Amino acid sequence: MFDNTKLAMFRGQETPFYYYNLELLNNTLDAAKKAADKRNFHIHYALKANFNDRILSVIQSKGFGADCVSGNEVQKSIDVGFSADQITFAGVGKSDKEIKTALKHHIFAFNVESIQELEVINELAALEGVKANVSLRINPNVDAHTHHYITTGLDENKFGVPNSELEKAAAVISACANINLIGLHFHVGSQITDMNVFKSLCVKVNEWKNWFEERGTYIKVINVGGGLGVDYQNPDENPIPDFEAYFEVFDKFLERNAQQEVHFELGRALVAQCGSLVSRVLYTKSGAKKNFLILDAGMTELMRPALYQAYHKIERVGADLKDELLNYEVVGPICESSDSFGKEVELPISKRGDLVVIRTAGAYGEVMASRYNLREEIRYVFST
Ligand code: LLP
Repeated sequence: MFDNTKLAMFRGQETPFYYYNLELLNNTLDAAKKAADKRNFHIHYALKANFNDRILSVIQSKGFGADCVSGNEVQKSIDVGFSADQITFAGVGKSDKEIKTALKHHIFAFNVESIQELEVINELAALEGVKANVSLRINPNVDAHTHHYITTGLDENKFGVPNSELEKAAAVISACANINLIGLHFHVGSQITDMNVFKSLCVKVNEWKNWFEERGTYIKVINVGGGLGVDYQNPDENPIPDFEAYFEVFDKFLERNAQQEVHFELGRALVAQCGSLVSRVLYTKSGAKKNFLILDAGMTELMRPALYQAYHKIERVGADLKDELLNYEVVGPICESSDSFGKEVELPISKRGDLVVIRTAGAYGEVMASRYNLREEIRYVFST
């Protein structure tokens, strides 16, 4: 609930802007760290979810590692102070320039996604006179039961080395003098709320780990990726995901010995709930079939509803229980029909100038903003 205190805080601000609640961020990170530390698990924060400087420095200060998917993200994590030996670098299309950046910083591991990529990293590492640590990303063919755009671990997805190529990948790794295989990497998708998906992942991970160990290859690092979902429907009731239940699945079902490390790459679960997009009503309009609430924020600030038909809770800031409600389609100003945040949204009857907040926007919100229509750079406000 964004009540009158927030109304007073936001009133003088130019909209739209991202509002980040740093107290909630801190509490979320502490809960995740506590549940992971208890089991000796390592968390690399997935920068792709949010790379706002202030957010990153809070995450870095808590001792998290970083999970990157571009050379710029690797460089950014180094600049913010993440330790190079806690940085992983994934992605199906790493360019030579990006690989060189990561080699220069001697990162913890490349999560390698194809045989050709293994060969290129080996070649570039040889040129630099270094040995690169790699984890092999295996496509486990586990259905994440999430939106098909954010499912990554099925045979039809472009990610990871398919089962059919593993034999060859293992041979290439043995033949490459400048590559050191430290582990295996998996990631099945995002916004996963059914813990059975992670249980199925553990079963596959155990199989593949055994496959390598039977061939005499020791697997030190088991990286199971990220994907833990958040409650978009009830951000006030469930502001912090159940990290205990999540880590417990892996603790229980992953076979490992005391020397083997378990690594995670959480993004959304750590930052989604601490961010909201705040905007003003520009106009109200009653169409032939519905009422429109036209905001000054659009798909350029928060792309998820337009791109994935994703649900985000929409509230009027400072709403009162006594307010009369109306059904609105809440839209942005962008010249696209897909620029809509929600089609049947019950809100207090609103007028020009009212503040509206779109919740649970801290992950894949600001980072996916664009300048389409030559929109202004996105602004943000923090509360401590
Ligand atoms: N590791 C890898 C290899 C990934 O591909 C991803 C996310 C993560 C970790 C972090 O996943 P998370 O814990 O945040 O679920 N833009 C979409 C989400 C794309 C996720 C891409 N990969 C959205 O707005 O829902």
